[in-house]
Amino acid sequence: MSAQILDGKGLSARLRARLRQRAEALAAQGRQPGLAVVLVGDSPASQLYVKNKIRACEESGIHSLQHCLPQETSETALLELIGQLNVDEAVHGILVQLPLPPHIDVRRVLAAIAVEKDVDGFHVHNVGHLTIGNPGLPPCTPAGVMALLEDAGIDLAGKHAVVIGASNIVGKPMALMLLAKGATVTICHAKTRNLTQHTIFADVVVAAAGCPKLVRKQMIQNGAVIVDVGINRLPDGTIAGDVDFDEVQQIAGWISPVPGGVGPMTVTMLMENTLRAAEQSMFCCSQGEK
Ligand code: GUN
Repeated sequence: MSAQILDGKGLSARLRARLRQRAEALAAQGRQPGLAVVLVGDSPASQLYVKNKIRACEESGIHSLQHCLPQETSETALLELIGQLNVDEAVHGILVQLPLPPHIDVRRVLAAIAVEKDVDGFHVHNVGHLTIGNPGLPPCTPAGVMALLEDAGIDLAGKHAVVIGASNIVGKPMALMLLAKGATVTICHAKTRNLTQHTIFADVVVAAAGCPKLVRKQMIQNGAVIVDVGINRLPDGTIAGDVDFDEVQQIAGWISPVPGGVGPMTVTMLMENTLRAAEQSMFCCSQGEK
């Protein structure tokens, strides 16, 4: 028996059509949602990610502004640009593509983005909101995973979820979101001694380790839900996830493919956050006018 597919591409197309209607409704009230994307340097991978985000804006009716800065851009110049975007009323979301060049302090940059425009959900205030269960802007990749699981009707209450990877961007917020839905969560990471000892008892495994084909068939139990966050470029130029898809899909209950799983969902959640930020800004303005 082979696993059912967590189809991020299909779900994204459906969600983006709905986002477009919301964007058009806002535009009709004179407030087209706007996303500013800042790219420093010329990493081909980052350029590709940014291109995908700009294309998604077009599909979702969001105005995009791209700022491509040279690799040698100073931290001061980047902070100045962020300061301008923070007060630009046409900009509702600001995304600074990571990683940044090593001479720039990423923490200082993320902290400089206005919390209400932090559509990546990386600002410590939004991390805090997520931690205590406040509504805020959630980070896009784990939010995309949760949307995929919800769309498939997978109930997480009481389930044992294992997250592989403890990054600030994916692993840690992923664990918090699963916990908020009632799962019992284990976070595994590079120093975890026996990974299989944890994954073999998992009802849900989210692989976000950045290690191609790390998760093998013998590491999971029959019927487990397997979500693959990995996007790894192999020496032959092909892309592989963190899960050995061909092998694992033979025994999993559900599995997300790479490409076409979490990747498009991440970008769709970025659009969702931008829409939410724009709607929220409108609400704030109308409140202020009273
Ligand atoms: N680099 C890799 N993933 C991401 C992401 O989700 N947001 C940003 N800003 N940069 C990234």
